[in-house]
Amino acid sequence: MKITLSAIKADVGSVGGHNRPSKRLTQAIIDHVENEGKKKGLLIDYKVFTTGDDNFILMSHTRGVDNPDIHKLAWDSFVQGTAIAKEQGLYGAGQDLLKDAFSGNVRGMGPSSAEIEFEERPSEPFILFMCDKTDPGVFNLPLFRGFADPFHNAGLLLAPEMQVGFEFTIMDVNYTEADKVIKLNVPAEAYDLAVLLRDPEHYVIESIKANSTGDQACSVSTSRLHNIAGKYTGKDDPVAIVRSQKQFPSTGEILSPLAAAHYVVGDNRGSHNVALMPCKLGSIISYFDGPAIITAAGICIHNGVMTEEVDLFDQPFWDFVRNKAAEKTFAIREQGYFGNAMAPMEELEYTGVMESLKRLDKKFVLRKK
Ligand code: 13P
Ligand code: 13P
Ligand code: MG
Ligand code: MG
Repeated sequence: MKITLSAIKADVGSVGGHNRPSKRLTQAIIDHVENEGKKKGLLIDYKVFTTGDDNFILMSHTRGVDNPDIHKLAWDSFVQGTAIAKEQGLYGAGQDLLKDAFSGNVRGMGPSSAEIEFEERPSEPFILFMCDKTDPGVFNLPLFRGFADPFHNAGLLLAPEMQVGFEFTIMDVNYTEADKVIKLNVPAEAYDLAVLLRDPEHYVIESIKANSTGDQACSVSTSRLHNIAGKYTGKDDPVAIVRSQKQFPSTGEILSPLAAAHYVVGDNRGSHNVALMPCKLGSIISYFDGPAIITAAGICIHNGVMTEEVDLFDQPFWDFVRNKAAEKTFAIREQGYFGNAMAPMEELEYTGVMESLKRLDKKFVLRKK
């Protein structure tokens, strides 16, 4: 039986600033998914998580990716959540619902989605990664290293299924007329792939396939909200589903690169560089509207039914990484908004800084040399 995993997420309002959805808001989402999705037979199973101020709905079903009924279920549940956010006076009520009415698919409407359809293996482990205060390029470094670098993925040397490598599909997220994608194979095209992935605000991993079996290993949400809204309305706060073990890297190999606490764009007003902190499920946002956080739920699925989740960053090793992330973040925060501390100019183009630059440009005078 082919199963589809759909992870659809949105920020529709939060308590105390951009920190965490209220319990009533998230419960309204759960109630809608339960009553209109599970009870009506549309879904086999589901789970709802929060990370920072974002709600993540993970659904299993048999309708394939981009299914209008599944996407409408998620959209309508975010509409229910927005109603509670308005009732409670939460900050940013309906923030990520950028269109007035649902039309077929959440892509291009604000909420982000990551979906995979696959034939279940006898044991089907996967990881749901959820982020807040950052953008989808956050996954470029860890997925490249987890799938293509033997320093993190010893299976590339030791496991015959992985020695033939992987095919990466990369999206040019700045191209808005259509989905502009390129497929590159590792190890053969690893350097070309690195040339693109080193620019995570422009080129983003969308999916990865195992060359050994042709099975899809992962799916990453690629939505850039500033391209939909034409201005900064909030950060994308992406989601990814990554299958693990056998023909794919082990769960530990996929997590390993995240111990770098690499610098990503996000944090306060989505406009700073900050070290990505791996946090426990349900973590909130605090210092400088950040730091950018990632959470990870490890799950097995069988006949579409999901086990309870394992909180993959709830382990003493990650306390050390969290401290390191705080130190790295503080190191760059010490220089505030100067130079590299702020996001690249192409990100700031969607903020009020452009108006100031235009105004100031008129005041410049040309002096003869
Ligand atoms: P187990 O022997 O615990 O299954 O682990 C195998 C493995 O390859 C882990 O990376
Ligand atoms: P969110 O995208 O998580 O709502 O954050 C917005 C922001 O600007 C925080 O400073
Ligand atoms: Mg918010
Ligand atoms: Mg958010």
